[in-house]
Amino acid sequence: MTPDAATYTTEELLDMDLSMEEGDWKPTPHGQCLAEVLAEHNIVQGKTVLELGAGTGNHTILFARQGAEHIVATEISRAFADTTRVNVERNVPGAPVECRVADWLSTEGEFDVVVTNPPFCMSGKQNRRYYIDSLILDAHKRLKPGGVLAFVQSSMADLKKTLRRLDENGYDAEVLGERTGPFRDYYYEVEGFMEESRAIEGGFETRDGVDYETLSVVKATLRSYAPPASAHLPE
Ligand SMILES: C[S@@+](CC[C@H](N)C(=O)[O-])C[C@H]1O[C@@H](n2cnc3c(N)ncnc32)[C@H](O)[C@@H]1O
Repeated sequence: MTPDAATYTTEELLDMDLSMEEGDWKPTPHGQCLAEVLAEHNIVQGKTVLELGAGTGNHTILFARQGAEHIVATEISRAFADTTRVNVERNVPGAPVECRVADWLSTEGEFDVVVTNPPFCMSGKQNRRYYIDSLILDAHKRLKPGGVLAFVQSSMADLKKTLRRLDENGYDAEVLGERTGPFRDYYYEVEGFMEESRAIEGGFETRDGVDYETLSVVKATLRSYAPPASAHLPE
C-alpha cells in the first residue's frame, strides 16, 4: 500500500531514487515536464491507468503516490520493463503496479487513463509524429467511455495539429501546463528534424541565438459516441 496522495508535497511526489541500465531511456526535459505538470494536476487518483513506455518508472512512481487504483506500466523489452519494476519496488514498495512488455497500444484491458511521454524526435518512423497520431487514433480502444488520454509533446511536433486531430477523433482537449527550454544537442544531428521543425508554425523560437521549444502536457477526454448500427464494425 502507498500512503494517501494528500500526505505528499509536490516536492515529495517528485523525489525519486531511480537506477537505470545502459540503454534505458534517461529522463529528459519532456519527462520532467510531464511529471511536474501531472504532480500539480492529479488525474489518476482512484483510477486505473495504462502508462505506455514507462522507462525508469519516473511517472509510474508519481501515479502510485497520487493514489492510482491500479497501474499497468509497459515497455518495449523485458530488460526495460525490469528497470521500471525495480524502481517502482524501491520507491513505492507494494504499489498496485503491473509491468508488462507490450508494443505501444497492443495490450489487454480498458482503463480510465492512458498516459505517456511518446517517442517523437527519435520515433524512427517516416511520420515522426507516428506515436502521437497513433494515440489520437487508437487510444480509445484502451480507454473506458469518458476516459482520459494524457501526454507531453514538443511545439516541434505541431501542437495545433494535435489539438485539431484530437477534436476530430472525439476528444475534448486542453493543455494542462507548459515549459519552455533550450533544444537538446542531438536535435541538430537527426536527419531532417530541423527542416521539418522550421516548416511548423510556432515550432520553435530563437532568442539571442539560442533555439527554444515549448513542451505541452495535453489532457484529452474522450467524448461519448455510439456509431450507427449500419457502421462497419468488427465482431
Ligand atoms: C520518450 S521515452 C519516455 C520514457 C519515460 N516515460 C520518461 O518519460 O522518461 C519513450 C519510452 O517508450 C519506450 N518505447 C518505445 N517504443 C515503444 C513501443 N512501441 N511500445 C512501448 N514502449 C515503447 C522506450 O523504450 C522509452 O522508454
